[in-house]
Parts: sequence; structure tokens; C-alpha cells
Amino acid sequence: MINTQQSIGVFDSGYGGLTVFKSIVNKLPDYNYIYLGDNGRAPYGDRSFDTIYQYTLECVEWLFAQNCPLVILACNTASAKALRSIQQNILPNKYPGYRVLGVIRPTAEIVGDFTKSNVVGVMGTRGTVNSESYLMEIDHFFPNVKVVQQSCPMWVPLIENNEHLEPGADYFVKEYVAELLAKDAHIDCIILACTHYPLLIPKIKEFLPNGIDLLGQDDIVADSLVSYLERHPEIAGQLGKAAIRAFYTSGDPRAFDASASIFFGETVNSNRVDLKL
Ligand code: DGL
Repeated sequence: MINTQQSIGVFDSGYGGLTVFKSIVNKLPDYNYIYLGDNGRAPYGDRSFDTIYQYTLECVEWLFAQNCPLVILACNTASAKALRSIQQNILPNKYPGYRVLGVIRPTAEIVGDFTKSNVVGVMGTRGTVNSESYLMEIDHFFPNVKVVQQSCPMWVPLIENNEHLEPGADYFVKEYVAELLAKDAHIDCIILACTHYPLLIPKIKEFLPNGIDLLGQDDIVADSLVSYLERHPEIAGQLGKAAIRAFYTSGDPRAFDASASIFFGETVNSNRVDLKL
């Protein structure tokens, strides 16, 4: 165990969750956090349901073992493929008192406030898009909103390899945006339904017509965590507040630190973790 004080665990397949983590620490700076990026096995997006579930569960159990009673899956693919099974099958039997939260529901809960046309685009990994989680969750809260999806399988690899702002990325950004917009002319709001994608915002905007909003999840998820902790003092009260932030990666820590320091906006010193428990 790394920390003796309890921390909030934040998990992503790689760097993407840092976009959410940054907003969380801005809004809740006092808590202790452990960020885990499974960079060694990223991207998750094209992997099978079973593999994503297995990898996500391993990472969640690793965070539990580091004294994190609350874990945020800052990853849409993991939220789409693993969250429900972990919440329903694993927590009650093996980890009562532990909590795991995802990113899809908080986004679905508010998206209706951002569209006037009631046509919303969702850009995500193949795993997220094929799960149809956004269709179901948004329909639950806003049955009048039409959801149009686009998978963007090249975007996470570009970001994980720090090539996303290079000229070579233009083709794939332009192509996926055009494919989405061709599906419905009334889209006025696009959910970036992958926590990696905010890193591409400058490029996406180059290829987006005026009048279409881009909705990232960083503040949405952070606001939802603030509200969750207010509503659950029994969880909030367990958490240490020494403002300790620790970073772990299953990939190369030096590569992680170089990219993560840019994405997170602070110097990051990570440690390598071997995820086999
Ligand atoms: N950040 C993850 C998400 O939100 C990326 C998934 C991947 O590794 O492909 O979906």
C-alpha cells in the first residue's frame, strides 16, 4: 500500500483521464489522489468487452488496494464496458463500502441543456459507440434528444503517441468530424465522449462550422464529484485531505511524465506499476 491516508482513485487507459483529473483537483484541491494510467495496455477502444472489463477491474482493484475507497473511471470506454458489472456484481460481494463512479451518466444528465436543435453528436472510441451507452443514458434523461454517433479510432493512438497536434493528425480529425456532420445537418452540440479528446480541441475547431458547441467532460465530471461528496458525507469523511497527488502508469514512467506534465499542466513524477495483483 502506497498511502496510509485514504485517497480518491482516478483511472484511465492512459493520458486522457488527466483532462478530468485536472478539473477535479481545481475544484477539490484538498483531497489526496492517486491517478493510474494503464498506458502499457492503451488504447482500450478497440479491445473486446471481456478484455476491457478485465483490465478495468484489475486497475480498480489495484486502486482499492492502495487505500482508495472511491474510484472515478475517467474513461468512457471503461465506463461503458465495465462500470455496471463492477457496481452490480463485484462491489456488493467483494468490496462493500467501496464506490466506483463513471463519466457517462453525469454527461447524459446535463446534455439536454446544451442543445437547442435537440440533435446531439457523440464522438468516442469504437468500444463506447458500439456499447450504445450514450443512446440509452441520454434517452433516459432527455427522450426528445436525438443522438448521432461517430467512432474515431485513430484519435486515441495519436494522443497516446503525442502526435495529435502535428499536421499528420489533420486528416483523421477532418474525416471523423465530416462523417459525423454528414449524418445529421441539425447537430448543434458534440459530446467529446472520450476523455482523451479535449487534447484535440484546437484541431477539431479548425474543421467545425460555427454554431456547433463542443462539450468536454472535464468540468462535468468534476462538478458531479463535488455534488456526490456533498451528498455522501460517509464517503467524503473517510478521505484524507493532505493534498497528496500520486501518479502511476503501467507504461514507461519517463514517457508518462513528459506527456502528462503537458496535459496536466504541472510537473508529474510517476512510478511504474505492475498491474498483476
Ligand atoms: N480516455 C478513454 C475514453 O474516455 C480512451 C479509451 C482508449 O484507451 O481507447 O474512452
